[in-house]
Amino acid sequence: MLKAREISWTKDHKTILRNIDFHLFSGECVGLIGPNGSGKSSLLKILSFLETPTSGLLYFQGQSVPRNVPLPIRRRIAIVFQEPLLLNTHVFDNVAIGLKIRGLSKRLIRERVDYWLEQFGVSHLSKQLARSLSGGEAQRVSLARAFVLEPDILFLDEPFSALDAPTKEELRRDLGQVFKATQTTTVLVSHDFRDILHLTNRALILLNGQVMAEGSPSELLKGPQQEDVEHFLQHYSYK
Ligand SMILES: Nc1ncnc2c1ncn2[C@@H]1O[C@H](COP(=O)(O)OP(=O)(O)OP(=O)(O)O)[C@@H](O)[C@H]1O
Ligand SMILES: [Mg+2]
Repeated sequence: MLKAREISWTKDHKTILRNIDFHLFSGECVGLIGPNGSGKSSLLKILSFLETPTSGLLYFQGQSVPRNVPLPIRRRIAIVFQEPLLLNTHVFDNVAIGLKIRGLSKRLIRERVDYWLEQFGVSHLSKQLARSLSGGEAQRVSLARAFVLEPDILFLDEPFSALDAPTKEELRRDLGQVFKATQTTTVLVSHDFRDILHLTNRALILLNGQVMAEGSPSELLKGPQQEDVEHFLQHYSYK
């Protein structure tokens, strides 16, 4: 589905990502985990075509991706950021906007938006203004807005990090159920290994802009890993 070969990214004479190889198969959820500043969001931005790497190649569905990424390719992906970026309008319109831009009929838009609001348990908020939502509600609306596009690849950058523990657990569980039902191909960034354990089937550990380890979440925890990876993993009570 998506492949990256020897990606490096340098900005202001600083190397942010170094020689990264990455692949994502259809239907899997792959995690990117690492400490603050390790390059997770940077890699996500490059994989989702928001930034252009300094060197390296990207392939989408077997085709090399040109530096100036064509709109039809950009429209096949959806991104959810850590802070929900909602427009100052009603919840329904926020979720519908991407479909309107894509020119779907009013009837189809209503059907799909209603379906995804329901899946994330926020149907009752449909007519509420986005700015009056709680953090947890806003994040659910952001997820509905991404899923409604039925993207080929979904990119999630720390979607739960602004939420309190119970809200986070509940949303993680609901998202897990949606993944199971839809098999949406996803890249999930998190610094919380619980997200990785519950939601991904494979994860990459990033340290200082490099991939230091890759495997199933349980393999990664079992180790043995290089000293700096062990050091990172020891911050989790699982080790
Ligand atoms: N556009 C940019 N210009 C310059 N430096 C950048 C840019 N984007 C990211 N960086 C730097 O690259 C490094 C990695 O940042 P990035 O946001 O990818 O880390 P992260 O792993 O997502 O961290 P966090 O867990 O805090 O979100 C940081 O040192 C950051 O300052
Ligand atoms: Mg980040």
